[in-house]
Amino acid sequence: MLINNQNYRTVWMQYNFVYLINQQLLPHKFEIYKCKNYIETANAIKTMIVRGAPAIGATGAFGIAQAALEFKEDNFEDFKNYIENASGILKSTRPTANDLFYAIDFVKEKILKNFNVNDAKKDAVKLANEYADWNAELCRQIGEHGNNLIKNNQNILTHCNAGALACVDFGTALAPIRVAHYSKKSIFVYVDETRPRNQGASLTAWELAQEKISHAIIADNAAGFFMKKGKIDFAIVGADRIAMNGDVANKIGTYEKAVLAKENNIPFYVAAPLSTFDTKCKTGDDIPIEERSEDELLYIHGIDEDKKIKKIRIAPEQSSAKNPAFDVTPAKYITGIITEKGILKPIKQEIERFVNLKNAD
Ligand code: MRU
Repeated sequence: MLINNQNYRTVWMQYNFVYLINQQLLPHKFEIYKCKNYIETANAIKTMIVRGAPAIGATGAFGIAQAALEFKEDNFEDFKNYIENASGILKSTRPTANDLFYAIDFVKEKILKNFNVNDAKKDAVKLANEYADWNAELCRQIGEHGNNLIKNNQNILTHCNAGALACVDFGTALAPIRVAHYSKKSIFVYVDETRPRNQGASLTAWELAQEKISHAIIADNAAGFFMKKGKIDFAIVGADRIAMNGDVANKIGTYEKAVLAKENNIPFYVAAPLSTFDTKCKTGDDIPIEERSEDELLYIHGIDEDKKIKKIRIAPEQSSAKNPAFDVTPAKYITGIITEKGILKPIKQEIERFVNLKNAD
């Protein structure tokens, strides 16, 4: 992604350090965060310095590579135990996004097929880099497929941030929007603010502004208003995990936008790589939903007139809050799922066919 005329990825590795665009500070400050060991990388995922399903997947893959490099002995059995333990720590950071588990296993299972520590270390770095490159390429392909759905002069609604920042590059839901913009289509994006962490207002809006794509931030509660007025032609969101019947877990608030879209005859698309499908989840009821700190609702972060980032309480001292981070949108509200292999209907047979295509690669 282009930031201040320079190309960046959300996450990358150099020597044994993992580098991340610090998403806690955006849009107020652009800063790179350096994780010096895999425990710091795990903490960066947990504290949402990096967030978004494909991005935390790639970060987890780099975390395993870091753990491999940190192992100082030569005994392969001890190395195996060490990597299993590191994998457990990295996986315990966030529960909902499937890519985190998929990416960690992608690197771990392959390196543990080695017989000596040095080969496994070399493989780990190579595989994590391959995973990141592969993810960036999948997102580019999602952009091409999704662009076929976008017509000139359309208004598109999106929820949360499923842009380049949520992936390695390019984005999932924002990828078709980018490609439409690059191919000179005139489009306008309605950006849900996405309480409680405001990924829409702070990250999606920032990415669109960097690319000079016309947009406006709307209050989460305003989507129905704009849909009813005929201002939205279609909606496109990302996904954290997709069950085999087509139910989609995504940022809290996605479900109600999908129901509203159906009520107003507006197509509702999900964009995600096939690694987001979880063959172990038959329906959305099998997807674990992350419960986050109530502070995310009771406080708000912003910048004051002296350009200092501040955390401000907005609720009574006596109040508590409930804060599920994701919801599940039933398949019946979803028009189609845009993947790297094309656009599929959210039904079991079609999902299985696409997942098999991925496994055959
Ligand atoms: O809690 P987050 O910010 O890690 O949530 C993930 C998301 O950004 C969204 O749910 C997104 O739409 C899916 S990830 C491309």
